[in-house]
Amino acid sequence: MATRHDLVVIGAGPGGYVAAIRAAQLGLNVACIERETVLGGTCLRVGCIPSKALLESSEVYASCQEGLATHGIRLGTAALDLHAMLQRKDKTVGALTRGIDGLFRKHKITRYTGHGRITGAGQIVVENEQDTLGLSASRILIATGSVPAELPGVVLDGDRIGTSTEALSYPDVPSHLVVIGAGYIGLELGSVWRRLGARVTVVEYLDRILPGMDSEIAAEARRLFEQQGLEFRLGSRVTAARIEGETCVVECLDSKPLYCDRVLVAVGRRPMTTGLGLESIGITLDAQGRIPVDEHFATGADAVYAVGDVIRGPMLAHKAQEEGIACVETLAGGAGRVNYGAIPGVVYTAPEIASVGRTEDELEEAGLAYRKGTFPFLANGRAHALDHTEGRVKVLADKKTDRVLGVHVIGPRAGDLIAEAAAAMEFGASSEDIARTCHAHPTLAEALREAALAVDGRALHI
Ligand code: NAI
Repeated sequence: MATRHDLVVIGAGPGGYVAAIRAAQLGLNVACIERETVLGGTCLRVGCIPSKALLESSEVYASCQEGLATHGIRLGTAALDLHAMLQRKDKTVGALTRGIDGLFRKHKITRYTGHGRITGAGQIVVENEQDTLGLSASRILIATGSVPAELPGVVLDGDRIGTSTEALSYPDVPSHLVVIGAGYIGLELGSVWRRLGARVTVVEYLDRILPGMDSEIAAEARRLFEQQGLEFRLGSRVTAARIEGETCVVECLDSKPLYCDRVLVAVGRRPMTTGLGLESIGITLDAQGRIPVDEHFATGADAVYAVGDVIRGPMLAHKAQEEGIACVETLAGGAGRVNYGAIPGVVYTAPEIASVGRTEDELEEAGLAYRKGTFPFLANGRAHALDHTEGRVKVLADKKTDRVLGVHVIGPRAGDLIAEAAAAMEFGASSEDIARTCHAHPTLAEALREAALAVDGRALHI
């Protein structure tokens, strides 16, 4: 007889593993199927965490070369031990994946290693190289995430022409890396290899970088990245990439081909829905290949739910986690909800770029009347102490009600600063609320308060 569970989660990425933990906390008998031998999904294995480990290491290396002298610290010439840097990254990933193992044991979540496939209502099989196991479940949660999108004409060889997975482990610093796509991945990993010494050319189809981010902030980011030596070829669509002998050739529409020794394809991700048996329960994907769900993450099939990158919305780990929690809280009789208006996005470059709520472009397009306050880190004491005065904070508030509609930050620790803005928006704050909140001095967070004051034309330090 098939082993029975109250909830079977397919996929142990941020959406799936967090949903499994929360469901276990709520008293459900939970199982999680994961085909990789380690838990944590793309984010932990080959995404957010290893990229942040490399961003941190490469930043330290870069500051040893240039930044430390301004602090009055002189070192000899800094030498790169790439092997050790990659090992540290792997160690970080290992520690965190083992942490999830521990959380699963603590919460008595049954773990199945293999490919999960739905075979009918409440029926799932787990297939691995050794055997096939049948499970039955009162509810099924699909959290299978996404895989890198491919580009027609670009032949991935899993080595020199590859995705972020390969770019997290290049054995040598490329002499010239061409990055296709100026989104999150292209800019983060492009920055890593630039700092480690590669020439990096980022080719982007649009005439700007970071589509979806506030365009004023994105323009400032581009200027700063160019100062760091990143080369941009904007408004250029890549039509093909291939290997010719020792060289990779990247063909672009309306511009000359680029010759390099490695290519990173970072043109977005697509939902991972193949081989899940969705047809057996009558689920049809939408035009973008996503699983349609209602506001409670229910699919069209009875007792089958989906969260994270396989459904609509931004492909972000924390968005998937929020959805996983909200979904199982509703299943357990609670009232789970996700406020899609207050999901932050962070690009972990130097400086970091962070955003929550609506961009100025979106407000213009929607014809909404707003007031805007900006404040540069150049006028913030802590930024001077850190010697990171680049960037600014921008607060957008409703012209009539003063409710905060969006906050956008480019600058030191922007990814941490945005948490205050997200909390403020979650509580429906006005810019006046942020302006009246006492902020410790000297902190970077004072720049957010000053930008909130600037909405009403009364910033103090500028
Ligand atoms: P993205 O959607 O952020 O950027 C892809 C870029 O590729 C776009 O600017 C697009 O215009 C460009 N592009 C598409 N086709 C092209 C062509 N033929 N030639 C030139 N340019 C082309 O996707 P990315 O960077 O691959 O990231 C994938 C997902 O992973 C994103 O949804 C992102 O949210 C997530 N992610 C999040 C991170 C974070 O939170 N810090 C870090 C890394 C990824």
